[in-house]
Amino acid sequence: MGAIKIAPTPILKHNDNGKKMSDWIDAVDENVLANGENIVIDVDGTDVAIFKIDGQFYALEDVCTHDGAEIASGRLEGDEIICPRHGARFCVKTGAVKSPPAYENIDCFPVRIENGKVQVRDNRWD
Ligand code: FES
Repeated sequence: MGAIKIAPTPILKHNDNGKKMSDWIDAVDENVLANGENIVIDVDGTDVAIFKIDGQFYALEDVCTHDGAEIASGRLEGDEIICPRHGARFCVKTGAVKSPPAYENIDCFPVRIENGKVQVRDNRWD
């Protein structure tokens, strides 16, 4: 199954420094994705791909650090996603780059399950 894109409404608040930060947002029902599937959601204006692997959920920015391809549409092998454009590989669990032509990691985001929903938040600006 390919990536599905949805855009939940983000909840923004401010941290102690007055910077904008995101709250947890509902991404998808816990039981919607099968192992090996992913879904792409908009988190505060960033496309985030949520993958399910061996019953666990992981979230990466949906952009290849080599040349900007949508990584969620790549092929999954174990816990590595292969970029559909030029074949760079990344660890879905950490965002770590595993092979060229990419040399930078992909940002990954915290994920949790709350009341049957997979939730994610963009913590890069906290
Ligand atoms: S855009 Fe992903 S490897 Fe080139």
